[in-house]
Amino acid sequence: MPIKNRFAELLPEITEWRRDLHAHPEIMYDLPRTAGFVASKLRAFGCDEVVEGIGRTGVVGVIKGRSDSSGKVIGLRADMDALPIHETTGLDYASETPGAMHACGHDGHTAMLLGAAKYLSETRNFDGTVVLIFQPAEEGGAGGLAMVEDGLMDRWGVQEVYGMHNAPGLPVGMFATRPGALMASSDEFEIVVTGKGGHAAEPHQAVDTTLAAAQVVVTLHSIVSRNVNPLQRVVLTVGTFTTDSSASNIIAHTATLRGTVRTLDPEARALMEARVRRVAEDTASAFGARAEVTWTAGYPVTVNDADAAAFATEVARAVSPMVEGEVPPIMPSEDFSYMLEARPGAYLFLGNGDSAQCHHPNYNFNDEAIPYGCSFFAEIVERRLSA
Ligand code: NI
Repeated sequence: MPIKNRFAELLPEITEWRRDLHAHPEIMYDLPRTAGFVASKLRAFGCDEVVEGIGRTGVVGVIKGRSDSSGKVIGLRADMDALPIHETTGLDYASETPGAMHACGHDGHTAMLLGAAKYLSETRNFDGTVVLIFQPAEEGGAGGLAMVEDGLMDRWGVQEVYGMHNAPGLPVGMFATRPGALMASSDEFEIVVTGKGGHAAEPHQAVDTTLAAAQVVVTLHSIVSRNVNPLQRVVLTVGTFTTDSSASNIIAHTATLRGTVRTLDPEARALMEARVRRVAEDTASAFGARAEVTWTAGYPVTVNDADAAAFATEVARAVSPMVEGEVPPIMPSEDFSYMLEARPGAYLFLGNGDSAQCHHPNYNFNDEAIPYGCSFFAEIVERRLSA
């Protein structure tokens, strides 16, 4: 069974919603128009329950099937937020808000889930309950975590969750996923090294902070090669190195290093934090300097449940002839990971064709992908909750 006919009929309407959202991007948790748009559509479709303000500005819609003998509850998730980027596409529905843009396709994700919601409200050809999850602040604000912490999963008894993200470079209509780790965790660290500033010509009277911090950078790079299991995938990068010296004849008093650690392995993630702290502190100490490490945990590893990923792959194959069920993982991160920590489920990529990359000012969501995304969401429900 390919794309559902109903979505071919609904395509002009869903495209209109997508472009309306595109023209009015909102950022992080500050989504009054977007969340209002979503909630009013869900009410118009006749959802059994529509609740706003979950995880600050998230929206939840509930659709009950014709029967509920299965007692099953499936969560389907889309993200609603845009990015602080100035759009350069020149589209006639381009952002009307300077400095804000739907540059990651969340307008498309939201429109596709709304399309599925309209269809599922009309047909209700399933046995159980669907919980539609529209989350804020995917772009660095952990809106997914905010919704989980606000009781999303328990309040509606969600048993499994599915979500998808468009993928520039994959053909339109192609689905790609894998069991296990699909996307990396993303943590940041800041290391402030303090020595003793002084005259460049009299280093013996000072503690050379720059040299100590440089050694910290070098030693940090031994962690991935010497402490991490070679079969685990980890990357560490020191992105900035600044000191408070403003001249060539001054020995700096402090130096600040900032970097990121990405991994596909939750165990390696804990090891990295412990080793970064130890290496920075002890290396600085060997030079008579002091290192203070601030570790900021970002999004966890996005881990697909094996059974859910296999099921999602089967559903994708019913919708599209182009499906890759064992795609290699990628190192960006995604806050659907918090929902997958709370419940089993799967995340998928949906081809966006030959477009600019996500987060680029020329990016645009490809409306031709809409029927595929909508059909996938609807098919997941009708198969998992088969009446
Ligand atoms: Ni995104």
